[in-house]
Amino acid sequence: MNADRPATYSPETSIVEAPPEGEVRRVQHGDTYVLLARVEGNTYAVADSCTHGKASLSQGYLDGWEIECPLHQGRFDIRTGRATASPCRHPLAVFMVKEHEGTVQIFDTKSNDN
Ligand code: FES
Repeated sequence: MNADRPATYSPETSIVEAPPEGEVRRVQHGDTYVLLARVEGNTYAVADSCTHGKASLSQGYLDGWEIECPLHQGRFDIRTGRATASPCRHPLAVFMVKEHEGTVQIFDTKSNDN
């Protein structure tokens, strides 16, 4: 057993530093990019790619639990992945996270996996 790896390590998880409150961070998880956002003490993880076009949501604007796309200003709820403002209609994939002492462990998609 590799002493550098936590006991829960598996290829389907990533461990990264948690973003500061009210900020977003783009991180790699396997072969995809995930947007991490910290709001009211909790970290949320959704797919970083907008479902409307070719845009990185981590370049957008975080407003409460909503992330606004930098390209056409569509919006998504980071808690559920649900599209909340046009022109976005399709939800984002949502990833389960576990927080521990300033780090976030990202697990494979838990919902909206399409
Ligand atoms: S690319 Fe995101 S709203 Fe159009």
